[in-house]
Amino acid sequence: MSEVNLDAFWMPYTANREFKAKPRMIVGAEGAYYVTSDQRRVFDGLSGLWTTGAGHNRPEIADAVARQLRTLDYAPAFQFGHPLAFELAERVVSLAPEGLDHAFFVNSGSECTDTATKIARAYWRVSGQSSKTKIIGRAKGYHGASWGAISFGGIPGNRKLWGQGVDSDHLGHTLIAGNEFTRGQPQFGEELADELEQVIGLHDASNVAAVIVEPISGSAGVIVPPVGYLKRLREICDRHQVLLIFDEVITAFGRIGNWFAASEFGVTPDLLNVAKQLTNGAIPLGAVLVTGEIYDAFMAAGGPEYAIELPHGYTYSGHPVACAAAMASLDILEQEGLIDRVREMTPGFESRIHELKGAPHVTDIRNFGFAAGLTLAPYPEEPLRRPFEVAMHCWRNGYYVRYGGDTIQLGLPFITEEAEIDALVNAIGEALTEN
Ligand SMILES: Cc1ncc(COP(=O)(O)O)c(C=O)c1O
Repeated sequence: MSEVNLDAFWMPYTANREFKAKPRMIVGAEGAYYVTSDQRRVFDGLSGLWTTGAGHNRPEIADAVARQLRTLDYAPAFQFGHPLAFELAERVVSLAPEGLDHAFFVNSGSECTDTATKIARAYWRVSGQSSKTKIIGRAKGYHGASWGAISFGGIPGNRKLWGQGVDSDHLGHTLIAGNEFTRGQPQFGEELADELEQVIGLHDASNVAAVIVEPISGSAGVIVPPVGYLKRLREICDRHQVLLIFDEVITAFGRIGNWFAASEFGVTPDLLNVAKQLTNGAIPLGAVLVTGEIYDAFMAAGGPEYAIELPHGYTYSGHPVACAAAMASLDILEQEGLIDRVREMTPGFESRIHELKGAPHVTDIRNFGFAAGLTLAPYPEEPLRRPFEVAMHCWRNGYYVRYGGDTIQLGLPFITEEAEIDALVNAIGEALTEN
């Protein structure tokens, strides 16, 4: 490959100096593997960024995108429509838990966060309770990089540079002592949800619009909710007339062996955010699903019929090419039974990944579906170094895993074979031993 000048591109969420000194360049992909610029095959242990569960370069998606580009490459998103956006909205809400009847399209998880929380605040306003504006997030939460997302998110490194954000408060996280090395859902910690009662009480429910949580925290290292915790959040929200938003940008469409975490845990939020796996990562697209009650409140309060009920949206909301990619990717999930496949293979992955208990530096392992997180003991004064070194070791040996904070994160492609799980776990074990 000819030399590329790396200087101009300021890379996102990247240690630019380190990367540009030792670039890790990906030039191709197929199935569960990347091809690097030095022609190595690297197993994609995070499905891209939790995006590409069905595997890379799916011809069905490529064909659908190419067809769409030749039929209708773009249509104005405001005040005009194209059929595919309506078809996709209907399809997505038909897969979602009952009651989530409408989809608002966006381009990313961050835009989901802003959109869902703007809808929540506006909902209370059009319902005559305009003082309900505060949004409650959670420590260790990740909802993206927009002003809203960093305000409601709870990862300190993503918050500290920016000063005042959007009005918010936070619940504590659920990563508690005593639950280490739990397989699947922890038994202890349901009562942590009661903190919501106090936070709402502190601000008074008349000032609180919504709570936003990832049912399973992804970026903080796969933190699985204790049994009963989400149900309790739902009950407290109901008691105080506070909307519940689930950020399922990682968990929706198969990652956990179900279409949605809401379905898996039997808790239906008022708003539910999806992105990433919706198009298998091929084209940016997200959606905020909302209940009929929320949608109807806007329609009822909309004024004359020609007036816009929700002055919000993006140039690329419901982009025809993204919708085509989403339709093809949902077809793949359905036709290949990939979500059942994840469910069936979860016990095998679970027992293999937990074999790393006892490996050097490993202080906790968590898993659900095809997601797992390992917490590593830090070097003194250098909490971020060990996961970086472990991940680089894996990369050199043909395995891409994510490192973030004091964790290593895995999000297997749904098409992963058992032998690949074995090889990945062995590679991580070796990296832990040597770093
Ligand atoms: C749960 C969750 N929400 C939101 C986002 C932000 O998505 P994006 O990077 O597409 O804005 C992410 C990204 O990883 C995420 O994991």
